[in-house]
Amino acid sequence: MSVPAGRPHLGQTMMSARPLSEYRAMFELTDDDLLAGPVLDCPGGGASFAAEARALGADVLSVDPLYAATPAELADRTLLDTHRSSDFIGENLERYVWTFFRSQGHHLEHRRGGAQLFAQDIVAHPEHYVAAELPELPFEDGWFRLALSSHLLFTYADRLDFEFHLAALGELARVASEVRAYPLVDYGAHPYPEMDQLRARLQDRGIATEIRVVSYEFQRGANRMLVLTS
Ligand SMILES: C[S@@+](CC[C@H](N)C(=O)[O-])C[C@H]1O[C@@H](n2cnc3c(N)ncnc32)[C@H](O)[C@@H]1O
Repeated sequence: MSVPAGRPHLGQTMMSARPLSEYRAMFELTDDDLLAGPVLDCPGGGASFAAEARALGADVLSVDPLYAATPAELADRTLLDTHRSSDFIGENLERYVWTFFRSQGHHLEHRRGGAQLFAQDIVAHPEHYVAAELPELPFEDGWFRLALSSHLLFTYADRLDFEFHLAALGELARVASEVRAYPLVDYGAHPYPEMDQLRARLQDRGIATEIRVVSYEFQRGANRMLVLTS
């Protein structure tokens, strides 16, 4: 897998561990959004979003190909990637907006908390974590009210091509009445170059798209989400 010159290199996809507070901000989630019906988190990664939202009464299922590993392997990987991500941020401080997080240390503390909660929850409730991989999900049409997709689509646009993005978003829209994807830039903060074509192809399939500005911006320029309804 080659990475274009001039971009910071994150290696393989990270198994990051975002808590509910970050999901709320990235996706402008209200309690009504969380409680209106089943929610899919794909990719779930090491996020504690699902565990925390379920504690509020939400019905959340997390999907990620890495869930085929054992809980102990997942806990180790999430913690390792949390520290890798923190190191990357420390080397690229100017690429981030320091309002949601006060400092690199604050970010690390926040994500370590997410990683720990995730590690506990997957042991206590393995039935809420499904090993599967976009662009094919093992769910019936319209099973979820809302699907959330954070930091896979667009983030890794250097290694996931246009057809993958189209198929993955189409699949999320097949299983959920509404899809929210964030961010719309890659990990080097470059806007997704084929957004107009992608939206036109989704429109051809009867899937309406809207780009909404959100109040959360940690990675510079990452303040928009894509919303799909069908
Ligand atoms: C950066 S993490 C994001 C996790 C979580 N959404 C968050 O924001 O903390 C990216 C995740 O995408 C997962 N992933 C990679 N390829 C995937 C695919 N084809 N379908 C679903 N998930 C995938 C990886 O295993 C990894 O856990």
